[in-house]
Amino acid sequence: MNLIIYGMIICGIVIMATNIYRFYRYVKGSKDVFSAGSKKKGVWEYAALSLLIFFFIGYILVAILGKPDLVIAGILFGGSIFVALVLSLLFYLTATIKENALNIAETLISVVDARDPNLRGHSRYVQNVTMALYDHLPQEKKEGINRVSLEFGALMHDVGKLGIPEEILNKPGPLDDQEWAIMKNHPRLSRKIMQPLKSLQEILPWVEFHHERIDGKGYYGLKEQDIPYASKIIAVADTYSAITMKRSYKPSRSYEEAIEVMKEASGTQLDKELMEVFSGIPKEDLLSCVPEGVEV
Ligand SMILES: [Fe+2]
Repeated sequence: MNLIIYGMIICGIVIMATNIYRFYRYVKGSKDVFSAGSKKKGVWEYAALSLLIFFFIGYILVAILGKPDLVIAGILFGGSIFVALVLSLLFYLTATIKENALNIAETLISVVDARDPNLRGHSRYVQNVTMALYDHLPQEKKEGINRVSLEFGALMHDVGKLGIPEEILNKPGPLDDQEWAIMKNHPRLSRKIMQPLKSLQEILPWVEFHHERIDGKGYYGLKEQDIPYASKIIAVADTYSAITMKRSYKPSRSYEEAIEVMKEASGTQLDKELMEVFSGIPKEDLLSCVPEGVEV
């Protein structure tokens, strides 16, 4: 009997310790656009973690100091299984919410792409190139920019084109001044579309300022120091995508040509340091960023 009692207690301790570690990693993990919640949510998470540790200490005290019988051992073992199940459910639900949010975003982007044949695959391409650039940045430059949030921002950067009339998006010739003024509104529209979603607040400026230039001659004339770093990253990826993608009004250009053109724009249109990192990314890595079905 003792063997069963202590077997259950030891199994319970191991299960409980493993789950405290799982929950600790979840609570301490970096918050992205999908998991960012209110401060209140963070307080509840820490309260739940503290309570779990409190139970764990109680568990050990009962096992060492008390004389546990089969009932107590059963309650402790059952409790550890309950904690494991609840946490697994929590992680599963969080993953499902993230996946659904991403699917909704992808649906929105496919609507944007469908309205403009020149944009087909562009957002996904910019997303992939943005992540390639981010992954090559030195660690100190990555701080303050959550990887998942940046990925989502890059995917959504042109969602505001939903608000631009198709005649302007699909105009075969150059846009006149009035049409340009409407077109230049798309980053603000991207912000407006995402504004109601509380968890997206962090990435709103990243998206709104993706057409700003280092020399201040961008869409909204922001000065270099006022442009969010994430916007500068997206701008590099956006430019590379625009040059290398085939459009109805221009052929695609090679990796080498794109790098040459972008180096010329370094320090005026594009951030100098980012361009240094970008031109150091192996060619194959950038070629592999092209999404399926995109003509380059
Ligand atoms: Fe754009």
